[in-house]
Amino acid sequence: MRTPVQNPFQPGSDIIPDVWAGRVAQLSDWRDVLRPRLRNGGYERGRTILGEPGTGKSSLVRKIAREATAAGDWVTPQLRVPAGADPLKLVARAVVELADQAGLRGSTQRRIVDLIGRVEQIAVAGWSVTVRGADGPEPHRALFELLVELGEAAIRQGNVVFIHIDEVQNIADEAALSQLLIALGDALSHAVKVEAPGGAHVERHLPIAVYLTGLPDFEDMAGSRKGATFARRFATTVLAAIDEDDLRAALQPFVIAGWEVADDEGGVGRVRMDQEAVDAIVALCCGEPFLFQLAGQRAWNAGNASTISEDEAIRGWRGAEGEASAHVERILNRLPPREEEFVTAMAALAPAERTATKIAARMGLTLAAQVGPFSQRLDTVRGIISRGKPYSFRNRAVEAYLTTEWPRTY
Ligand SMILES: Nc1ncnc2c1ncn2[C@@H]1O[C@H](COP(=O)(O)OP(=O)(O)OP(=O)(O)O)[C@@H](O)[C@H]1O
Ligand SMILES: [Mg+2]
Repeated sequence: MRTPVQNPFQPGSDIIPDVWAGRVAQLSDWRDVLRPRLRNGGYERGRTILGEPGTGKSSLVRKIAREATAAGDWVTPQLRVPAGADPLKLVARAVVELADQAGLRGSTQRRIVDLIGRVEQIAVAGWSVTVRGADGPEPHRALFELLVELGEAAIRQGNVVFIHIDEVQNIADEAALSQLLIALGDALSHAVKVEAPGGAHVERHLPIAVYLTGLPDFEDMAGSRKGATFARRFATTVLAAIDEDDLRAALQPFVIAGWEVADDEGGVGRVRMDQEAVDAIVALCCGEPFLFQLAGQRAWNAGNASTISEDEAIRGWRGAEGEASAHVERILNRLPPREEEFVTAMAALAPAERTATKIAARMGLTLAAQVGPFSQRLDTVRGIISRGKPYSFRNRAVEAYLTTEWPRTY
């Protein structure tokens, strides 16, 4: 017997779902590259993970942060920047908390205790007020210096400092963004001298990992305004749809062993899924993480037998069609008019006909070059299309929505 109470699918936001799919490259980047290299004293850029709403940016970095915490790293909570808020305030508060965790407040060095005090001031007053009233160094300097102390404490501890700033597209104030990027970027590229075995002094970098997550709009803000400095200091990944193979693999535990749940009698039961139900969920969600959770949740709740059937997956999805439409409309409605026209024109052509020239013609333009800027943004900044030969959709939900009856499929 299965009940909604035990349902492991979690549509929503900022959740680390129990039924996890894919994102193998990003998880491995943390486990196999970033963390080991930082602990080894190597230099690593910050990581920026961008993507359209619901692609799983926050979930991904929260999952990585959870691993970091389990490994003993000093990890900030997910620092969500509210629209228009001062990001320096938020980050200053979090860094002071990490400094406390690292025991820096108990330092015998007056300088460090003063430094914590200065950064606490930023946390309370924000950078603009601090700048106006201060005669000391600029706030980003104080934040940078505390990050260096924290990084040195992490070297002694053998762990990593982990900073996750989410919803970075909400940083509206250019000066605040610049201060934040300078403080973080300078800390990442700062080298310190340490004693190597044998007594020689060598230079190493601080073990500080910075993850920025948010909507692709951030790339415009940071990329164009801050130019090369930002690009050189942060490596950007655009998250797109999850592969069908990865989604299948995520559901495989249901097919083979069954998903473990607590039963009514205090024992353990197992909920299985027919292969046809797996196929239906994978096809219906079009690779969108949010829709994957939604389809799974609805399929589970559509019955109470110990095996989820194809029929239940389909009946469940019917109740989710409205939400699925809304999800895609949210993506389409965020597009600037020309980009929306571009995807609409592209969708109207048969897949083999989707070339720049033909799409431009459909938009009433004579030259393929005229659509270049839109197609480039839809590809590299948003991950919605891919400019191969011919062009194709990477966001399969957008394609399905524009070219078929989806989400009404049956
Ligand atoms: N790798 C994954 N496998 C399965 N489900 C996932 C995965 N990543 C995210 N999800 C699910 O997708 C939903 C959206 O995730 P998340 O909130 O991280 O998206 P986001 O990109 O941060 O969205 P927003 O732009 O709205 O902040 C959540 O319900 C989460 O459970
Ligand atoms: Mg998010």
